[in-house]
Amino acid sequence: MGQSQTKRTVPEKRIILGVTGGIAAYKAAELARLLIQQGIGVQVAMTEAATRFITPLAMQALTGHPVLVNQWDAADNGMAHIGASRAADAIVIAPATADFIAKLAHGLAGDLLSALCLARDCPLLLAPAMNKQMWENPATQRNIAQLLADSATVLGPCSGAQACGEEGMGRMLEAEELAREVMAFLQVGGPVGERSPTPTLPPERRELNGVKILVTAGPTYEAIDAVRGITNRSSGKMGYAVVQAALEMGAEVTLVSGPTALDKPPGARTVDVTSAAEMFEAVKQRAADADIFVGVAAVADYRAAQPSTQKIKKGDGKLTLELLPNPDILAYVAGLPKPPFCVGFAAESEKLHEHAAAKRAAKKIPLLAANLAQQAIGADENELILFDDAGEHLLPRADKLAQARALLRHTAKLYRQGNLR
Ligand code: CTP
Repeated sequence: MGQSQTKRTVPEKRIILGVTGGIAAYKAAELARLLIQQGIGVQVAMTEAATRFITPLAMQALTGHPVLVNQWDAADNGMAHIGASRAADAIVIAPATADFIAKLAHGLAGDLLSALCLARDCPLLLAPAMNKQMWENPATQRNIAQLLADSATVLGPCSGAQACGEEGMGRMLEAEELAREVMAFLQVGGPVGERSPTPTLPPERRELNGVKILVTAGPTYEAIDAVRGITNRSSGKMGYAVVQAALEMGAEVTLVSGPTALDKPPGARTVDVTSAAEMFEAVKQRAADADIFVGVAAVADYRAAQPSTQKIKKGDGKLTLELLPNPDILAYVAGLPKPPFCVGFAAESEKLHEHAAAKRAAKKIPLLAANLAQQAIGADENELILFDDAGEHLLPRADKLAQARALLRHTAKLYRQGNLR
């Protein structure tokens, strides 16, 4: 016998791919194909409405399994809604329409796919797809918030051209991106450390190919004396997620990072700094060469007027510390004669909308991502609201990498529009 073939070491995983009735249903076929290519077993279940967009026969031909549609089928003794999910590691609904999301949020089970979801004992992943008004409608946002609270994972949506001819948030993620998210969720391809550190998207999805991006991340540390200083609770996770998302999208990334406990992102040029003054210097040297600047760092607004090189000894009386304002790095970059496309962050503890809109105007930046500081700092997930010339766009609570990807897709779109003008 010749050389034996390398055996797949990944455990076999199975998903139920739930397809609901939206125009993005055609992408489900590609998603099924990509997952099968990765050795994942795919059982498709469709709503009646979905069968108007893509035929069960097409999905059967792709997956090699009859498609579940009718809850009254005699197959599985009428117990398909129970049996199918028992054999699955996850249910992935792509596309998930506003109507189906509403059903899930309320625990309705009037068709086979929703019954399957209600009766599941495995994780549920959703890829919403709908018109932007439907997405932004408070009812949909309530339903999404409920599903997240019920431990569903929401993948996307993203912003872009919509089937109705409008532009905006609500477009389903592309099949490649969904496949990557599902595989990461199922940990197919081994633990993250074993994979290529920053896998890029297929060429057609590298929306920032060759674009130079400068990112600041983490806190700054302003020395008071040899051992004490002023800093904040920023972990750097959001900034590092922005770096990873930018690399995936093909960008050339330079990261100016304050002190964090995170590993340097492979693939990016990292400049380590400590104080706001050092961060400012590092950014000043590189800003003119950047196409896009993303200020994620939680820069200390003040520094000690006279930091002591020695440890300050305690005395009996009051101690007053004089503070001087630090330069605003983002405002400086945005004010350059030929500024890169600037994206800012706003961490607010109250009056989020009011403060964020005012901050965007004051710093004269085209795009600002705002979140509530008490929910975001140090956390793995956050909710973002994007403020741009068109208004506000909500990115519902999700992990920081998913948020960074959505933010950069939006950034890439605005950046391209700006270059076309
Ligand atoms: N920023 C900056 N340089 C500073 C302060 C802030 O580049 N000295 C950037 C941050 O990286 C972020 C944005 O400005 O992108 C907003 O930061 P934030 O701390 O929310 O706001 P401030 O401008 O510091 O205002 P305030 O503290 O009053 O909310």
